[in-house]
Amino acid sequence: MKILMVCLGNICRSPMAEGIMRSKVKLHDLNIMVDSCGTAAYHIGEAPDFRAQQTLKKHQTDISGLKGRQFTVNDFDEFDLIFTMDESNYNNIIALARTEADKKKVEMIMNTVYSGENISVPDPYYGGKEGFDHTYKMLDLACDYILNDYGLVVP
Ligand code: 4NP
Repeated sequence: MKILMVCLGNICRSPMAEGIMRSKVKLHDLNIMVDSCGTAAYHIGEAPDFRAQQTLKKHQTDISGLKGRQFTVNDFDEFDLIFTMDESNYNNIIALARTEADKKKVEMIMNTVYSGENISVPDPYYGGKEGFDHTYKMLDLACDYILNDYGLVVP
């Protein structure tokens, strides 16, 4: 199983989602590969935002070594599940899909918790530290739902 987390810049929300999911994968000793990327090219090669790193550090997860990269169409072939943080990311990725099979892999991440409600994970980039804690809580919940939904962790 390969899971890709997607946001706009790949320095706040999606690397946090990657780190959270990786720590759950490790905890439950699962065979899941997790990666993240952005739809935009602004932050290619950069480490996650310092506030994102600090937030994950509070939860014993180190994401300081991650590097920003941009989504490519090849990711549809590489990954089984592609989770976007918001509706804009979703629309951008769907616009690149070549087939219905590509489209089926893509879902807004909070729809795993609140099915069909199309709730976005707010972008914490322009706000304060509290925004990052809020992002953490939403993504932690979503990652638990993903693992349960796919029968990867027995509740
Ligand atoms: P992210 O947040 O999509 O959660 O990584 C952003 C980071 C940077 C920018 C936008 C969103 N930016 O415009 O530089």
